[in-house]
Amino acid sequence: MSAEDFRLLQELFCRECGLLFQPELKFIVERRLGVRLEVLGLKDFAAYHRFLQSDPSGHEEMEAALDVLLTRETYFFREPLQLDTFARQVLPALHEAKGASQQLRLWSAGCSTGEEPYTLVMMLKESGLFGDWSVTVHATDISRRALGIARRADYGPAALRVTSAERQARHFERVSPERMKVRPELTQPVIFGHVNLIDLGKVKQLPLMDCIFCRNVLIYFEPGYRRRVVQFLYERLVPGGYLLLGHSENLLNVKSDFRWVQLGGELLYQRPP
Ligand SMILES: C[S@@+](CC[C@H](N)C(=O)[O-])C[C@H]1O[C@@H](n2cnc3c(N)ncnc32)[C@H](O)[C@@H]1O
Repeated sequence: MSAEDFRLLQELFCRECGLLFQPELKFIVERRLGVRLEVLGLKDFAAYHRFLQSDPSGHEEMEAALDVLLTRETYFFREPLQLDTFARQVLPALHEAKGASQQLRLWSAGCSTGEEPYTLVMMLKESGLFGDWSVTVHATDISRRALGIARRADYGPAALRVTSAERQARHFERVSPERMKVRPELTQPVIFGHVNLIDLGKVKQLPLMDCIFCRNVLIYFEPGYRRRVVQFLYERLVPGGYLLLGHSENLLNVKSDFRWVQLGGELLYQRPP
């Protein structure tokens, strides 16, 4: 892949989904997209760029390209200290704030293969606070393939690597020696949707949320798009609602109206009440 081909593809993917592949990733991008060149029988990356731009397959090839390029790494109960703060501090606060309506809406933005939204449902259940409430967990991603896996709710050992045996027994049914399925009653509150976070039209179709998890998604975004998505997330929160980012992420260099709150040693963001 020439430097110019890399630049053109980098620009195209950035416009498509906000992600910026840094030059040090050129080798990985080349290796991963090489598979697509072979499938399509194209001779080089310049031809692949032209193909993507005209996309005779509709949007299919762009989706296939993003599927090989995007990191989908996730697992149940990821970043347990933050989840502990969520359970001990955020959920009781939301329980109090929303007591009149008894309605709670969470959003896993960039949910990948579903481990994060199902984890949230499990935590709501464990809290014992929301038994007869109307609870929904919206779970969205740009990857239709990831969403397909998420809907099946059927997982192997890697997804469960930090989930205790007690939680596995409580929240899953064993379907084979290797695989566990999320119990059907825990999948019911989850509403999956295909949403590209840089697409305001799509984001606006979602209802206002009480809490948004957007973890390990924005870290790879081009700064301008990151700012834009943070603003979209702000506007999708009710006043007083929370935003939780991944451990290695923060909004230090992102101008926004969020205020940060320190809870249980964890940094959270809140739309001012
Ligand atoms: C590393 S996974 C994070 C999964 C989960 N949030 C977690 O922390 O375990 C990042 C996810 O963000 C999704 N993603 C990347 N760019 C996106 C965009 N523009 N819109 C929606 N989802 C996006 C990817 O498809 C991938 O599933």
